[in-house]
Amino acid sequence: MPHTSPNAFFFRNAGQLLTLSGPPAPRRGAALGELGIISRGGLLTEGETILRVGSTRSLEREALRLRAEAIDCHGRVVMPGFIDSHTHLVFAGSRVDDYDLRLRGKTYEENARAGGGIQSSALKVREASVKSLARQAQRFLDEFAAHGTTTMEVKSGYGLEIAQELKILRAIRKLQEDTPLDLVPTLLALHALPASFQGRATQYVKEVITCLIPAVGRQKLAEFIDCFCDRGAFSVDDCRRALAAGRRFGLTPRIHAEQLSRTGAACLGIELDAASADHLDNLSDADIRALAKSNVVATLLPGANFHLGLKQYPPARKLIAAGAALALATDFNPGTSPTVNMQFVLSLACTQMRMTAAEAITASTLNGACALRRADRVGSLEAGKQADLIVLDVEDYREIPYYFAVNHCVMTVKGGRIIYSRV
Ligand code: NIG
Ligand code: FE
Repeated sequence: MPHTSPNAFFFRNAGQLLTLSGPPAPRRGAALGELGIISRGGLLTEGETILRVGSTRSLEREALRLRAEAIDCHGRVVMPGFIDSHTHLVFAGSRVDDYDLRLRGKTYEENARAGGGIQSSALKVREASVKSLARQAQRFLDEFAAHGTTTMEVKSGYGLEIAQELKILRAIRKLQEDTPLDLVPTLLALHALPASFQGRATQYVKEVITCLIPAVGRQKLAEFIDCFCDRGAFSVDDCRRALAAGRRFGLTPRIHAEQLSRTGAACLGIELDAASADHLDNLSDADIRALAKSNVVATLLPGANFHLGLKQYPPARKLIAAGAALALATDFNPGTSPTVNMQFVLSLACTQMRMTAAEAITASTLNGACALRRADRVGSLEAGKQADLIVLDVEDYREIPYYFAVNHCVMTVKGGRIIYSRV
């Protein structure tokens, strides 16, 4: 046996190596469908980083010199790990009772008004410790990794009280200490008005701005700030105040926009130069034009539409035609999208929103990285970037969404280390 370096890997014989190479900026329009495919591709890693990408043949010599451990991909598809730019990973218990009620005819908003919804998750969070929150989330994290996600945003938001929100953010910090995945923490500052503030929304927003946001900023517990701007949630004015306050404490805005109704939240995102505006089910043509002209990443979350049993999906084709920067994410959460599987989100994007497989792959890798402002490090397979890649047991990348609701991922590599394998 020749000695191999434990530090270097040579991934050989990828049937299709999807590099997504190019500038670290969101792909728009026709460029959204360009995957930079190398057939019979190879990839060399050293330590955490990608050293070289090319045809398998062209890398053989350097692989030998490095004593890289060879991993034969047997003609499978190799691509960047998924970047899931919108999740609510940390919650307690589930919302299967809401789900059951919906199956019997209640709507999402009816459940929320009747004390289910976010409020019921907040009650459970209050009973939970940092440790138990992290323990439940860790189980889901393992599943995310097994399904090919290597970087994910994680929001707070089920606390609805300052101490509880801080508890969730501490659970996220604890998770980051133990997981190889990159977690990107977001303070979901305005999610639902707590029962104790009924009829006093202004008061609550003021407390969030004067107590919660400064505490999170000072303790560096989050990188982004988010608000649920919608009918039955918070107004554009309240969200503007909270997001602007977040920015003063170093938190970059992103926003839940136009999910249940059109409120002007997407335009608020543009006004504040938010990293992303997410959901976007109810957009006017003017909103679409404005998003296309902006740097805000339009993030679509079709898992929520699927789980809520909606017939309408966000207008992906119109956004792409207008030139918007489009991303896809799971929206993993107990109320509207309990899925860890980005591959299934791709199937929904293709079948329900008429995106091509190539567009959906770019939207869930490079453009997701842009939504998290990390495209300089992750989202594509290029020399110098972090070695975050996945091997999928298909020959043609279009089979990823085609064979739907299964896990094609057979290996996940994060920062140059194999963190999941079933080959
Ligand atoms: O992204 N829209 C607001 N937040 C979540 C759902 C929250 C919940 O119902 O628990 C979402 O869909
Ligand atoms: Fe969400």
